Amino acid sequence: MQRPTHPAGDRPLIYRQTIWTRLTHWIWAISLFFLLLTGLQIFNARPDLYLGQQSGFGFDNSVLSIRAVNSDSGPRGVTTVFGQDFDTTGFLGYSGGRARGFPAWATIPSGQDLATGRVVHFFFAWILVGTLLVWLVAAILSGHLRRDIIPRGKDFRNLGRDIRDHARFRFHHTGRYNTLQKLSYFGVLIIALPLMIATGLAMSPGMNAAIPFITDIFGGRQSARTIHFAVMLALVAFFFIHILMVVAAGPINELRSIVTGWYRTEPDEQSEGDKS
Ligand code: HEM
Repeated sequence: MQRPTHPAGDRPLIYRQTIWTRLTHWIWAISLFFLLLTGLQIFNARPDLYLGQQSGFGFDNSVLSIRAVNSDSGPRGVTTVFGQDFDTTGFLGYSGGRARGFPAWATIPSGQDLATGRVVHFFFAWILVGTLLVWLVAAILSGHLRRDIIPRGKDFRNLGRDIRDHARFRFHHTGRYNTLQKLSYFGVLIIALPLMIATGLAMSPGMNAAIPFITDIFGGRQSARTIHFAVMLALVAFFFIHILMVVAAGPINELRSIVTGWYRTEPDEQSEGDKS
């Protein structure tokens, strides 16, 4: 990640992000936006989640259920999570004067349209697969994976200090990712996105025929769907924290690095980064 400094100064600019990191970052950010909103469209066709192979009447394996119910005060949205009911009128179950899982503003297309949702979802799913493969090859060849993504013993030893620094919004502008960045980017790139792709394949009837074991690995198609949904929630949580951290660490400098590659470091912090 760290290349020649340019130009030398009090707070030198260093070349922190390669073209492959930047290009793939923005392609998967756009892909994940469409995947999320079309995924919620597909989910709305059956806004329930189960564990195991089967679902429906006679099975007691529901983990999440979103529906509309009639009440004395009119229709209400109800969300049941592990048997616990929540009134979610206006957001989940009933919104915009209609019974809907997720509201119109959270889905693409905004109206109920499963067929279009599926076409767009699968298109961006394959874009994501390709982008992740390109990132992986580039990250292995450039050393980015080993140097910046995979946490090492030293990173774990710094974890306590790093958590304290983040809690106080104290950021060190070095050429290297800090421990929490490494852990979260590792979690996204090496665990969450591959798990998302694998559970997506496990739900596909075509893949069930070609590689049937992939559904069994996840304990059945309904479990694969539930894991797919849970990983989506984790990625949404990552996204909000990621943006908060970019803003807190200095949005202009952070954005410059992920758009142009160049990152402004603090002199003492840069030498600290060089040592790590
Ligand atoms: C779904 C959306 C997003 C995901 C999954 C995501 C994920 C990631 C990951 C995994 C990295 C590390 C990449 C690597 O080193 O190979 C990264 C870096 C970065 N992302 Fe995002 N990102 C998303 C959206 C955004 C957005 C919208 C912004 C800007 C507002 C942003 C700003 C950055 C910056 C500045 C870095 C570099 C951090 C640094 O150099 O310290 N990301 N992102």
